[in-house]
Amino acid sequence: MTINIRPAKAEDADAIATVHINSWRETYRGLLPDELLDGLRQDERAELWSKIIAANGHYPTNAQFVADSAGEIVGFGSCGLGRSKECVAAGYKGEISTLYVLKPFQNYGLGSAIFHRIAKHLVGTGVDAASLWVLGTNIHARKFYERHGGVAFKERTDNHRGCSTTEIAYGWSHLPK
Ligand SMILES: CC(C)(COP(=O)(O)OP(=O)(O)OC[C@H]1O[C@@H](n2cnc3c(N)ncnc32)[C@H](O)[C@@H]1OP(=O)(O)O)[C@@H](O)C(=O)NCCC(=O)NCCS
Repeated sequence: MTINIRPAKAEDADAIATVHINSWRETYRGLLPDELLDGLRQDERAELWSKIIAANGHYPTNAQFVADSAGEIVGFGSCGLGRSKECVAAGYKGEISTLYVLKPFQNYGLGSAIFHRIAKHLVGTGVDAASLWVLGTNIHARKFYERHGGVAFKERTDNHRGCSTTEIAYGWSHLPK
């Protein structure tokens, strides 16, 4: 299986939205309310990703990378400047905003490859430290981040349609180059 990790293009927005929604449903069923997962809308997500990709020219720290298997997008990740004030105040200027690989394509090294492309991009734009938020109950992803050097440093609670969740912030003070 040859899968190429490459920067996202404007025309990838729809496929990224599909992977995003499917991966949320695969990963968060039982962790987040069914109502929220079933209510995710392809058109809304596609529009969101179109806007994010279109804004790259204004925000050089922003980037999105896709795992492309012969034209089919099977995973993606994105980054930018930190959106969480508390994480930025803790010294993590950048943020890994998403990282998703569809289940049948997990454990082939794609998540690691996307993570390293993101890290390289951030470091290349002068951002050496970054963080992300992960659901506390998403043990698999937490272990993945820990194996890649992430250190848990903060916790917050959130409310998703009446379902209280805990999220953990992981940080890298020196992203791998
Ligand atoms: C977390 C996630 C992105 C990891 O992606 P992935 O593609 O499965 O990750 P990798 O394949 O790089 O690494 C996973 C395992 O495969 C192993 N691996 C890496 N390259 C490999 C290869 N070429 N062949 C076989 N195994 C490999 C890794 O060593 C790792 O093993 P370990 O669990 O013993 O450490 C993925 O599981 C995912 O998308 N999960 C659901 C969404 C999610 O939770 N995202 C995070 C939201 S905050």
